Amino acid sequence: MLEWDDFPKVEIDFMNTDHKECLEMLTELSALCSQASEQNEVYAVIDEKLQALQQHLVEHFKREEQAMEATAFPPYYVHKTEHEATLQQFQQVLTDWQRDRDLGFLTRYIENNMMNWLELHAITMDTVTARHVAQNS
Ligand SMILES: [Fe+2]
Ligand SMILES: [Fe+2]
Repeated sequence: MLEWDDFPKVEIDFMNTDHKECLEMLTELSALCSQASEQNEVYAVIDEKLQALQQHLVEHFKREEQAMEATAFPPYYVHKTEHEATLQQFQQVLTDWQRDRDLGFLTRYIENNMMNWLELHAITMDTVTARHVAQNS
């Protein structure tokens, strides 16, 4: 599993703080998924943590978008579009999870899709954005 010590850092502190929090939330959800079985009480905790993660993502993305706007980052829309696509997919997974309770699917989404996405996004879009923000603010 991806650890914070190995996670790619960017040049802006608030972004690293958000990435650390996001990774912690994903790690916690992954642990909860491995404890859960047939509709036990862990499901209620997973639901709560998924809501908290959604809220985190909205705020995390908003902070980066505000920094990009404030420093007139040229590929603002490319980065923002990736955030929007990620949020939309997250919302879909949440809806599917609440309807189907497919624990295997949710586990793979958290451990593979989301963790890989977070790292890839951090070393691409977020790294370039942080460099621009650091140089222009
Ligand atoms: Fe980020
Ligand atoms: Fe981002």
